[in-house]
Amino acid sequence: MKVLEIIGEQELSGTIRVSGAKNSAVALIPAALLAMEDVTICNIPDITDINSLTEILQFLGANVKRASESIIIDPKTIKNRAIPEELSKKLRASYYFMGALLGKYKEVTMYFPGGCSIGERPIDLHLKGFEALGATVTNEGNKYTVRAQHLRGNNIYLDIASVGATINIMLAAVRAEGITEIDNAAKEPEIVNVATLLNNMGAKITGAGTSTIKITGVEELHGCFHEVIPDRIEAGTYLIIGALCGKILKIDNIIPEHIDSLISKLQEIGADMDIGDDYIIISKKDSYHATNLKTLVYPGFPTDLQQPFSVLLTQCSGKSKVTETIWENRFMHLPYLQAMGAEISLSSQSATIYGPTELIGTRVKATDLRAGAAMVAAGLIASGKTTITNIEHILRGYEQIVEKLTSVGAKIESKEI
Ligand code: EPU
Repeated sequence: MKVLEIIGEQELSGTIRVSGAKNSAVALIPAALLAMEDVTICNIPDITDINSLTEILQFLGANVKRASESIIIDPKTIKNRAIPEELSKKLRASYYFMGALLGKYKEVTMYFPGGCSIGERPIDLHLKGFEALGATVTNEGNKYTVRAQHLRGNNIYLDIASVGATINIMLAAVRAEGITEIDNAAKEPEIVNVATLLNNMGAKITGAGTSTIKITGVEELHGCFHEVIPDRIEAGTYLIIGALCGKILKIDNIIPEHIDSLISKLQEIGADMDIGDDYIIISKKDSYHATNLKTLVYPGFPTDLQQPFSVLLTQCSGKSKVTETIWENRFMHLPYLQAMGAEISLSSQSATIYGPTELIGTRVKATDLRAGAAMVAAGLIASGKTTITNIEHILRGYEQIVEKLTSVGAKIESKEI
């Protein structure tokens, strides 16, 4: 079994360069198959979720070349085939092949996607969106077939501003006849990044980043060159780590506006930051104030940073309350923080954290990707040794986390035990 071992209480100094955004890249890669020519995407993070998507593209017959940080996808040789369950369930974002293949071939068969077990994670809004465009959906157990004679633009109101449903509907609607309007669309920066790629390929999308997106269908999409935005969740994770144990830690290659909600919470607890155009320098302060936070859709506080931030709250003086509104099951890291010495009382969707408390290293589990990031943050400030199991979750989303942290002075090792 592979584990991460951390010897805590080291001060971190230097620069961590943030990689391309996982949640953008995982949508851009399936989107590329809508083109008739090569699509080159740079600033691709080197994480296992990207390998899983590459496997699906290769299964479909695409010619894929990976260089250091870029990927060139030649979709000319693709054959529309049912994507087997073992590939679909490797990651959540396999569901973007639904929208992309439906848009291109008017038919797709694949299985329910995988991903972190942080809630029920239904795909009803994606499927309703495809149906509104004229497709019929049939399913046998986990296997879904979505098929349309013609895709026709329509007005689609999303009950929840879902990131996945917004992107999937855009992917199908770019090749529908006429105009599609998505209302109550998700506004996350990743949506804008995907819309920009599609527009670079010749699509006609306006309003991405607002709650109303208009898509005028086109007959053909061409090749292009595109760049993945910096990962705001990776940036946020390292900023939180900087507040916990940074001496002078620079988090570089970021878009600070994408993490305004985190910056504001850090300011509220009293963190010390120097915010530049594309970097933030952060140093640990001797004491922080408690605060309350509630996860919300963008531009609210991201659910994906709630777990790492809760580690910081164990170091704040007083009583902090965390309320999770996006996922039903995103407090699985808290029992492990309790095992390390944190004082937390937990109810179904909220947790009260009393601080400051010293954390003591022990054996903990990465129950999901961001829970794993929280365990790394906790291990870095704990006394003694923290051993984190199930690290495959962490490697799905954080590029070279061991190397990046080691380069700024952390004692962290990936080991086979
Ligand atoms: N929802 C439905 N029906 C749907 C789709 C969503 O009820 O058809 C509900 C979900 O159950 C959830 C809420 O709507 O309660 C929001 O889900 P959303 O669709 O926005 O999430 P997602 O697209 O599945 C992406 C990220 C997640 C991130 C969420 C929220 C990817 C691959 N995943 O998930 O990232 O937490 O948006 O911002 O982009 C992570 O990176 O660790 C991660 C889990």
